[in-house]
Amino acid sequence: MTAARTRRGLLGRQTTIAGRTRRGLLAGLVGAAACGGQDESGAEAVASATGLDFEYYVANVEPIFTKERGGFAVESPGGPSCVMCHTWQANAPLKLERLEEGSDGGTFWTEEQSRRNFVEVARLVAPGNPDDSRLLKAPLARSAGGRGQHTGGTFWESRDDPDWQALAEWVAMAEPTGGSVAEGAPVDFEFFRHCVQRVFLTGEDGALPCAECHGSGGAMGFAGPIGEGRDFWNEEESRRNFEVALRLIEPGEPTRSRLLMHPLAYEGGGDYTHNGARRWESMDDPEWRMLAAWVRGERTGSECPG
Ligand code: HEC
Ligand code: HEC
Repeated sequence: MTAARTRRGLLGRQTTIAGRTRRGLLAGLVGAAACGGQDESGAEAVASATGLDFEYYVANVEPIFTKERGGFAVESPGGPSCVMCHTWQANAPLKLERLEEGSDGGTFWTEEQSRRNFVEVARLVAPGNPDDSRLLKAPLARSAGGRGQHTGGTFWESRDDPDWQALAEWVAMAEPTGGSVAEGAPVDFEFFRHCVQRVFLTGEDGALPCAECHGSGGAMGFAGPIGEGRDFWNEEESRRNFEVALRLIEPGEPTRSRLLMHPLAYEGGGDYTHNGARRWESMDDPEWRMLAAWVRGERTGSECPG
């Protein structure tokens, strides 16, 4: 446990669980998983944006999802392990990878799968804030501050439950994104006006620009109408867009900002649905990183990067 808590190099090393070396177990299977490199950078980007620790996750969080709890029968509420219900096949949040089966009959996730799980699980927690994390609230008894009505049942009667504690520690350990920035970091209007708004007008790889669908004003109109004879918003129009955009972001917290998470690919940690196209494959995208820096209050002025 202690070893897992120390922050070490994030990814790409062997992780030992209950004394067994994962990679040793997996020989021959790892090669079958596609796009290892992409998963790696995806998980890494999510880790650096959220501050959530991947090694701690693999050692202490994933085992909670596969833990047998007195029988695998779905009929006994609170009995089966989380992964019995929470896989890609199920129409519920927390879509975990399907377990692989080793030659010894044991089940496991490959490192690639763990990275994908990590990206998925990260979207259900509020970094630095266990009490506000969906992952911790759903299976927790209502009397203990849980959400209640979890279809899978109540797994934790109180916050003293070791599983809950382990999850809480993982979440609490994360520096809320932009931890280096003073609370309530100002989100700069000038940068929005000159650099962020540009994003709304461009379309990449045939994707429609945001302004195409978010251009008519209203609650989602962060790219409102541009006045006659111009091809860019003037200051007044920009202010109106800014007001709308501010309601779609959480200053200091890119990963909780709908403006950034909605058009981000699901596999990259983005929201589950967006009727518009997915603009960014992952949080590694330079454009996404620019927006994140702006939300964190790190970008100001009219000079746009790149
Ligand atoms: C018997 C099936 C089943 C089991 C077992 C189960 N769940 Fe669920 N869970 C569901 C279903 C179905 C939903 C979607 C409906 C809902 O929110 O209750 C759900 C929803 C959730 C959500 C989303 C809550 C939200 O805010 O939308 C989380 C997080 C979650 N479960 C975590 C867990 C964890 C952690 C475990 C194991 C400790 C677990 N579940 C075990 C069926 C299950
Ligand atoms: C093809 C049309 C289309 C394009 C292009 C589009 N969107 Fe959307 N967007 C929608 C629709 C429709 C909704 C409402 C339904 C939904 O949430 O998916 C929406 C919802 C949203 C929301 C959620 C608002 C809320 O109240 O939660 C955000 C944020 C958003 N879009 C941002 C963007 C950004 C940023 C871009 C450009 C990178 C973009 N959209 C491009 C159609 C589009």
